[in-house]
Formats: sequence, C-alpha cells, structure tokens
Amino acid sequence: MTQVAEHVAIIMDGNGRWAQRRGRPRLVGHHAGAKRVREIVQACPEVRVKYLTVFAFSTENWKRTQVEVSGLMRLFKRYIRRETQALIDEGVRVRFIGDRIKLDDTLVQLMDELELVTSGNSTIHLTIALNYGGRDEVTRAAQRMAREVEAGKLAAQSVTAEVLASFLDTHFLPDPDLVIRTSGEARISNFLLWQSAYAEYEFVETLWPDFTALQFTQLISRFGTRDRRYGALTA
Ligand code: FPP
Repeated sequence: MTQVAEHVAIIMDGNGRWAQRRGRPRLVGHHAGAKRVREIVQACPEVRVKYLTVFAFSTENWKRTQVEVSGLMRLFKRYIRRETQALIDEGVRVRFIGDRIKLDDTLVQLMDELELVTSGNSTIHLTIALNYGGRDEVTRAAQRMAREVEAGKLAAQSVTAEVLASFLDTHFLPDPDLVIRTSGEARISNFLLWQSAYAEYEFVETLWPDFTALQFTQLISRFGTRDRRYGALTA
C-alpha cells in the first residue's frame, strides 16, 4: 500500500563541510544550502507533500563563531527579502517556529511580514525553524500552561497530550510523517522531539547543498511503501 507523506521535516546538515571541501568559508555553504530550499519546496506538490518544515537555526547554533552566526542572520534577512515574491506567486504559506526573543528586531519584522503576506496561501505550508530547539519549545509551552493554571484558566487535570500540543510552536501543524537528515549524521539534534514520536527517519549521506529534488522525490516514494504500525499490529 502506498501512503502519502503529508508532512516532511528536514535537518539540512552539511553546509559547512560542503564549503570546506571546496576550500571556501562555511558561509558559502550556507548560501548554497539556502538555494536548495526553493527547489525542494517546488518539488512538494508533485509528491503530495503539503507541509515542509526545515531546520534553519537551532538554539544550540549560537555557540558557533560570531562570524558564522551573524552571517547566518544576514542570510536569513536576505533570503526573506529575495524570496518573498516567489513564495507568494507559488502559493507557499510561510510560518516560523522557535523563540524569537534572541533574534534582532529587523529579522523578526521581516519574519512577521512574510507570515502576513503569505497567510492567504495554501498550496504548500513551509515552516522554518529559527532559533528552535525541541526541549526549549516544550519548556516554553510548559511555562505558558503553568501560567494559565496559576490564573485559573486551565485545570491541571485537564492537561492531556492534545492540550500540551496546542501550546507548542507547531500547534498549526500535523505531526511529521517523515524526517530527513542529510550529511550522514544519524541523530535528531533536538528537532521536533514531541512531534516526531511516530515519524519515519531517513539519514542520507548527501551534504545539504548537493541534495536534489530527485533525491527528495525518491525518499518520498520509498516512504510510500513503509509499514507504519504506531505500536499496533499490521492490518
Ligand atoms: C547545518 O550545516 C546547517 C545550518 C546550521 C544552517 C541551515 C541553513 C540553511 C540551509 C540556509 C538558510 C535556510 C533558509 C530556510 C533561509 P552545518 O553548518 O552544521 O554543516 P557541517 O555539519 O558540515 O558543519
């Protein structure tokens, strides 16, 4: 039986190595990686992927050099400015997850504007995780829930998995069906921890700037034949 991967999430890893192998600064790899995002978004409708979530910057990435961090922040701004019209034209709705508190005002404003101008779109839902960490997200959700309990708006005994999920950054998304990580590393690095409880995983050797739409569609086809049992028996 073939099934559809409605929501695919990607850990776009390997930009730094891609650049270093060419004797170039790591940021060159990030720029090459950013170009790949458009190609993968465009490949989604054909393989019936409705939601694409990409990990652009983690809560741990602040530990990188100041040159790399500020270069990435500039890249995100440039990406938003450059891609806005194409995203509107292609029917892409963009949303961001992660904590915006540490991001600079100009970037947050660009993110808000992009969310607003694409809010009427529904062909593809692109979610960009920026200053995102799974544990940080669950911690922030727990704090918000605790405040509601303190204020008498929420009863502790009515907190179910569904209620907790409604406090997460991803409250508007279905859980991912498939999580792809490029560059040969087989770990999940704090990405969508709660949401990926029953996701299938693909770890591929390709460095993110070399990852093609063809490879993406092949992984989606392979997903179609997987037997997902969610802890139960095969039907
Ligand atoms: C991991 O590769 C990649 C990142 C930390 C940044 C991801 C950002 C992009 C692909 C570009 C921007 C994307 C958008 C949506 C605007 P790495 O640097 O850890 O690579 P390495 O493991 O080879 O060092």
